[in-house]
Amino acid sequence: MYPQHVLEEVRLENDIVDVISEYLPLKQKGTSYFGLCPFHNEKTPSFSVSSEKQFYYCFGCGAAGNVFTFVMQMENDTFPEAVQRLADRVHITLPTPQYTAEARLRQEQKQRLFQMHKEAGRFYYKKLHEPVGAEARAYLQKRQMKENIQKKFGIGYAPKDRQALYRHLQQSGFSQQELLQSGLITEKKDGKDYFDRFRNRLMFPILDIQGQVIGFGGRILSQGEPKYLNSPETLLFHKSRNLYGLNFAKNTKTREMILVEGYMDMISLYQAGFRNAVASLGTAFNQEHAKVLKKYADSVIVLYDSDDAGIMAAQRAIGVLKETGFHIKVLQVPDGKDPDEFIRQNGAEAFSALLANAVHYIRFQIQCLKKKYDLNEMSQKVAFTTQAAEILAGVENDIEKAVYAQEISHITGIAQNAIESETKKIQQKQENTFYESAEQKRQKSFQQQHSQKMTASKGILQAQRDILFLCASNVRIYEKMKEVFFAEDFLEPVYQRVYEKIAFLYEKSGTVFPGELINYFQLPQEQKLVAEIFAVVLEHTGLKDMEKALNEEIKRVKMAKLDRLAAEAKSIEQIQQLLTEKRKADSLYITITDG
Ligand code: CTP
Ligand code: MN
Repeated sequence: MYPQHVLEEVRLENDIVDVISEYLPLKQKGTSYFGLCPFHNEKTPSFSVSSEKQFYYCFGCGAAGNVFTFVMQMENDTFPEAVQRLADRVHITLPTPQYTAEARLRQEQKQRLFQMHKEAGRFYYKKLHEPVGAEARAYLQKRQMKENIQKKFGIGYAPKDRQALYRHLQQSGFSQQELLQSGLITEKKDGKDYFDRFRNRLMFPILDIQGQVIGFGGRILSQGEPKYLNSPETLLFHKSRNLYGLNFAKNTKTREMILVEGYMDMISLYQAGFRNAVASLGTAFNQEHAKVLKKYADSVIVLYDSDDAGIMAAQRAIGVLKETGFHIKVLQVPDGKDPDEFIRQNGAEAFSALLANAVHYIRFQIQCLKKKYDLNEMSQKVAFTTQAAEILAGVENDIEKAVYAQEISHITGIAQNAIESETKKIQQKQENTFYESAEQKRQKSFQQQHSQKMTASKGILQAQRDILFLCASNVRIYEKMKEVFFAEDFLEPVYQRVYEKIAFLYEKSGTVFPGELINYFQLPQEQKLVAEIFAVVLEHTGLKDMEKALNEEIKRVKMAKLDRLAAEAKSIEQIQQLLTEKRKADSLYITITDG
């Protein structure tokens, strides 16, 4: 792995507020920033980022850590992957890492799976052009997919034979275990029989951003369920992260992408010359997709089917895209067709004209809303306008807001400035609840952690955190502490190490910086424990108060530790000795108020 000073350089160059802001909007309040937690579902913000301490903490779900932890959690990265990503972000060249045996094994397994998928792709492609592929070829012709496009997308055919691919891959030297790992081959329950996952289907290879095959989607040739069958989640394939077609779309110069629902929609658009289309496959467009897309685009045109399901999915995608900070437009294909059907019937030029009519998402939302009301009725007109003002409150840009307020005014005959002032009111209210709820949650969390009612073990954990917090924030306290309190006095093993690292950091630089301290811990669970030390601000009214609290905590932790040792003791002598230590601990008192 990487030496500590390298990690520290990468961490210092990646300000946590900047990095997190690239993933979600944060609002500043003092030295802290608040936002909606990306790790659990919530409507009001519990997620706080401290610019001073360079870490984050969620009062709702307890997620916590420094900039590395955040990237690990967000990107599903291992620690070295997160380090690499953040080093790239600030153009730091890392030294060659020393990989662990486990990481190397994983890497090798992935390489084998890549090879196998490539081989499977070739196999399906070959079958499409053999006599068994006749029906599939006819199907492609019916759908007007040209041969150069078939080739470009690697379209293939999985034969009916239930072991066609199985035999082929076995002959190519892949082990039983590897075959099962790929998800391309399934095992019968008794474990004695194997068969191909995809049979008698038109095959769409799914490529990653580098153009390597990581999975497949298979379409049935006639009627039947499921219409599309996809690869399961594997070491290579993560459906909630992968966007079909992105490996092509990323090469377009534009920073605008067209988001469609299906394989065929994406391919049809491509064939018609619109090369910036991507599809989220067999799953709703989500935050992870949005983050991946954000690297290649700032603007998205949502082009979903115009049936009810498509409209609902579009609304959901809009919400996701908004959170990631995209500029969003929406396009609907007329007559309930999907984009593929539209292009097939009307051609590329008609589609191009349609595309020019994509509307700002606010207009789309207002249109959807309008359908629900009868605007000839006064009360419904008011209800509609109020709801519409709610939508407008989400628009940042004042000019845009004015444009849509004017439109709503035009539709309803209600004065534009009335709509605008209602919007402003809603915005004001949202802003207030935003801060109030963040503050409330912080206080509640503080109370929970310090309430009398909390369970004994939780109390001991918090006591250990308080001790470490005070030691890390003030070298004088630490100097006093180290005379009477030792690493092995902590019950939590991670906190034993934290205590040692605090000593080390004081020795090294005279201060303990929370973000730096966390660097010494690389498992997410450890990082969380460390971040929790700094998550809640201790509210002591004065030094004397702090001293009293500290002494209570010291005693509590020491006693709990001695109790635990006593419970595990093997002899009477040992217990007697522990009792002596308990008496000593009971009379222990350190002063931090004098010089
Ligand atoms: N999908 C899936 N599993 C299904 C149905 C759909 O994974 N059982 C995914 C596929 O990626 C598909 C997309 O959802 O492309 C959209 O589904 P749908 O609109 O039903 O299919 P179309 O793309 O219109 O497919 P086709 O034109 O081939 O009928
Ligand atoms: Mn279709």
